[in-house]
Amino acid sequence: MSQLDHRQVIAIDGPAAAGKSTVARLLADRIGAMLFDTGALYRAVTLAAARAGISPGDGQALAGLTRRLRIEIAPASIDDGRQVDVLLDGEDVTWAIRTADIDARVSEVSAHPAVRDALLDAQRSITGGVKVVMVGRDIGTVVIPQAGAKIYLKASAAERARRRLAELQGRCIEATFEQVLDDLNARDAYDSSRETAPLAAANDAIVVDTDNRPVEEIVNEIQRIAEAAWRQAGVTGE
Ligand code: CDP
Repeated sequence: MSQLDHRQVIAIDGPAAAGKSTVARLLADRIGAMLFDTGALYRAVTLAAARAGISPGDGQALAGLTRRLRIEIAPASIDDGRQVDVLLDGEDVTWAIRTADIDARVSEVSAHPAVRDALLDAQRSITGGVKVVMVGRDIGTVVIPQAGAKIYLKASAAERARRRLAELQGRCIEATFEQVLDDLNARDAYDSSRETAPLAAANDAIVVDTDNRPVEEIVNEIQRIAEAAWRQAGVTGE
């Protein structure tokens, strides 16, 4: 298998619930790309740590655990609203990693440099021939700095909280607007201020504001940006 040409990657970073996953799914389907939501890796580690009784503050134990885990992200096998299947040592944890409890712990777990380091290879070693839409916090800055197109999606906190609340209600999970807003603000503050690979737009990222704009329009804009970048770089893909 050939190594992935990193220029075939579209990196989409941004704060919690900025619409990254929704936009990335539509874009990936449209251009025949693979979707890689890196947040699922950090969430799966957080779930495994909670189950193993490891504190979110214990970086060394978390890093050891991360290296032992087998986390797989596969195309959705069930039509229940999921974007992908997330498997933790073979177990389907797609929904188990998207609870309020995991939301409350994931940023502290993700801030440990050794945890991030243990997940880096998995994010860089996708094998070649395909275009990939990669979603996260540090894709354009750290994971794939040579990405063909780098997008930083943003939206106001209130708009993001409204979207996340609607998503939770769709899954019959009870929460208030204030609870959701507090979680997003707390995670953003933690993710932006950590020393290693903080949430940030790369210098050469294009910032796309998603407030009050239909999803289709945003997908169109990112597609145009990526295709122009690929034309310029002579990247064809398969
Ligand atoms: O979907 P949502 O925006 O709520 O979160 P996510 O993308 O699933 O990411 C969950 C958490 O994982 C973030 O709040 C970060 O703490 C961490 N994360 C990270 O540190 N680096 C990434 N590349 C992706 C996620």
